[in-house]
Amino acid sequence: MCGIVGYVGHGKAKTVILEGLEKLEYRGYDSAGIAVIKDSEIIIEKKKGRLQNLENHLKDIDLDSDIGIGHTRWATHGEPSDKNSHPHYNRDKTIAVVHNGIIENYSLIKKDLKEKGYIFESDTDTEVVAHLLDFLYEGDLFDAVTKMLKVIRGSYALGIIHKDFPKELICTRKDSPLVIGIGNNENFIASDVPAILKHTKNVYFLEDGDIAKISADTIKIFDKTLTPVEREIKVIEWDYEQATKGGYPHFMIKEIFEQPKSIEETLNRRIKNSMPDFSDVLTEEEIKKIDMVHIVACGTAYHAGLQGQFALRKLAKTNSYVEIASEYRYMDPFVTENTLAIFVSQSGETLDTLAALKEAKARGAKTLAITNVVGSTISREADNTIYTMAGPEIAVASTKAYTTQVVMLQLLAIYLAEKKEVMTKTEVKEAINTLYSIPKKIEFTLNESDKIKPISEGLKDKVNGFYIGRGLDFNIALEGSLKMKEISYIHTEAFPAGELKHGSIALIEPGTPVVVIGMQSDLLEKTISNIKELKARGAYIISVGREDCLDLKNVSDSFIGIQDIDDIFSGLLSVIPLQLLSYYTSLSKGIDVDKPRNLAKSVTVE
Ligand code: G6P
Repeated sequence: MCGIVGYVGHGKAKTVILEGLEKLEYRGYDSAGIAVIKDSEIIIEKKKGRLQNLENHLKDIDLDSDIGIGHTRWATHGEPSDKNSHPHYNRDKTIAVVHNGIIENYSLIKKDLKEKGYIFESDTDTEVVAHLLDFLYEGDLFDAVTKMLKVIRGSYALGIIHKDFPKELICTRKDSPLVIGIGNNENFIASDVPAILKHTKNVYFLEDGDIAKISADTIKIFDKTLTPVEREIKVIEWDYEQATKGGYPHFMIKEIFEQPKSIEETLNRRIKNSMPDFSDVLTEEEIKKIDMVHIVACGTAYHAGLQGQFALRKLAKTNSYVEIASEYRYMDPFVTENTLAIFVSQSGETLDTLAALKEAKARGAKTLAITNVVGSTISREADNTIYTMAGPEIAVASTKAYTTQVVMLQLLAIYLAEKKEVMTKTEVKEAINTLYSIPKKIEFTLNESDKIKPISEGLKDKVNGFYIGRGLDFNIALEGSLKMKEISYIHTEAFPAGELKHGSIALIEPGTPVVVIGMQSDLLEKTISNIKELKARGAYIISVGREDCLDLKNVSDSFIGIQDIDDIFSGLLSVIPLQLLSYYTSLSKGIDVDKPRNLAKSVTVE
């Protein structure tokens, strides 16, 4: 969703902000803008569409300045347009504001300000902040911001400048992410770390309600009671190079190819002496008390949760259930103090997941976050956090974050199994060895990725398709189908293989593509029967199975063979060709793979 970058330092505002916004493009947006203070005036330039439009527009405009704020907007209140883009001015153009989040009581404030004579240029909720600051301003910007925060309700990360304070950037946040980057004689703000990684790895993560006053050489942070506070400086482990394409044409394909490494690093982080170790987040005593595990997440992370549930049930013999975060808190979840509630989120900022976490906490669950982003809101809200080691994931369609989430959940299940003594130490070690064999097996599929290209060529003109599988394979079908929809805009649906015949088979026509995942050995015969039913009605079968599985190969029109692996861990392999299939289909349709339409990588509204 919206992205914020701010700079205060020496002369570089425009470059730092535009480069930073580029690094936030992955969050999803439909317009972009920048404000700088130049010659004692605030200049705002903004454009609907891609950042490139703004950059082209700015080519001949001199915006060199010591201070500025920039924004990429994902429309909520008001259509994507130049006028609705951020930053927003107050009436005499002395203040500029960028905002991520939603001001929930904006219409009341707007009505009140209109009665006071303020004229609104845009349809956004954000513009009320600029005019409200104008109304409250009595010569001290910081003071006006603190008063304004008492009036607005909702979620926000805000960057604010005033022409009379050309060396001061003010920012504040609540329920929307914002980091402060600590530079040398220059400082930064950003919605997410990749935007400033080129300049610094030292950051402050603001707490909810914090307000910061930032100049080139000072950063003063105040908590919501306006008490000065020292927040801990965190050093980011990611490298700038990780946030670049590194020779690949797209982030998504780079991230697909990074999976062997990110899985290995995730395993290394949690395996000590060949055994999984989560003792820092779950003690043996706590494990003994757990009688139910809830796994809650959105989108791809939800699909990782489904695999986690499978592992918890099969390996750890633990009651578990997975729920979509936006549903969880409205379904009166049955939680006791013996419930372990796990929240899975790549970004650690998804508002639905965060809200579900707060609900589970309020109901007394022990909460655990699995996230990829150190210092993210969800990581700070949960009782404990486990970090996946995927490195920055930039493409909107999640790939390496998903597989590292799955690995983490499986490792956690094995850890529980060992502590509950439902797996022996030898069984645990065997499972760990299997997990360690996965990176090499993924490499095998990646090396064969060229074979998938012709299959995607056959898909590019299709309008509909299905993904099917049984048991764990159905979970992979769901993820494969989501990937295809996200980046190729082909409507696909995933079904348990046995369910398609109960209605949706009516949609099968000659040539309808059906992608089949056939990795669950004990269910394969039944899946093959389902394939035959589909073929009899003209479906075009693309299947993924073990490379020597002739039974599956012989009934398929296209077959993608992967290496042998235990059924329970097979999802980590079978998902790879599905990621590649959607990537190549998207490419052949000429879609902007990394930034598909309408999507945001980090969804910070409900
Ligand atoms: C958005 C993204 C999805 C992602 C989901 C959850 O919808 O487009 O790719 O899976 O959010 O994101 P999270 O950061 O919580 O894992």
